[in-house]
Amino acid sequence: MSGASGTPYAAAVVRGLLEAGEAVDLVVSRAARLTLLDETGIGFRDAHWRDDLREWLSRGADGKPFPFEGDLSDVRHWAAGDLAAGPSSGSYPVKGMLIVPASTACVAGVALGLSKDLLQRTASVTLKERRPLIVAVRETPLSGQTLRQLVALDEAGAVVLPASPAFYAGATHIQDLVDFVAGRVLDAAGVPHRLYRRWKGELGGSRTLGEG
Ligand SMILES: Cc1cc2nc3c(=O)[nH]c(=O)nc-3n(C[C@H](O)[C@H](O)[C@H](O)COP(=O)(O)O)c2cc1C
Repeated sequence: MSGASGTPYAAAVVRGLLEAGEAVDLVVSRAARLTLLDETGIGFRDAHWRDDLREWLSRGADGKPFPFEGDLSDVRHWAAGDLAAGPSSGSYPVKGMLIVPASTACVAGVALGLSKDLLQRTASVTLKERRPLIVAVRETPLSGQTLRQLVALDEAGAVVLPASPAFYAGATHIQDLVDFVAGRVLDAAGVPHRLYRRWKGELGGSRTLGEG
């Protein structure tokens, strides 16, 4: 998780991974702590990360309580400054990496292979090991520089997945829009979920939702 706006996307993805029975290695960049504080009021602490994570995952995108009873024993948290952490090595067993949300600074760092922190180092490792890397970039408008860096990521094998909600799935709440993006991230990673209503080939289907 890097420091772009969109912490509810990350919460929805983590919940989706846990629900699918996937173990999660969580890295929260320094800037992401700021966005988390800004968007949720939660200060993410290294020493109490499990409590802070549970509180965060138990909130919806609107800040209200969200039903989450997931087991966090399959989550490991690694400090972003810990460059000796497990995921910094290609020998550490992981299936892939999801950067949700991805800041343009993170996009630049990964495109250039900067490895300025654990998040960027892990992304470089993911690419060199030819594992799936999904980059949910969140910024608007995009500069030419970022666009070129996104092309570089695409050419390196990453999936560039803008945090760009669609409206054909019949969203009625902010959480529906968030879950659409989170669901597309999980789709790109091949993780099963039921976060959004899939397109069925019928125009106007979204308008019939909620009509019983
Ligand atoms: C409240 C807040 C919201 C931000 N939103 C965005 C954003 O949506 N997209 C973006 O690219 N950067 C955003 N930034 C700027 C990044 O946090 C900044 O570029 C930072 O260096 C990213 O570092 P990281 O990639 O290591 O997490 C935001 C910063 C703050 C404080």
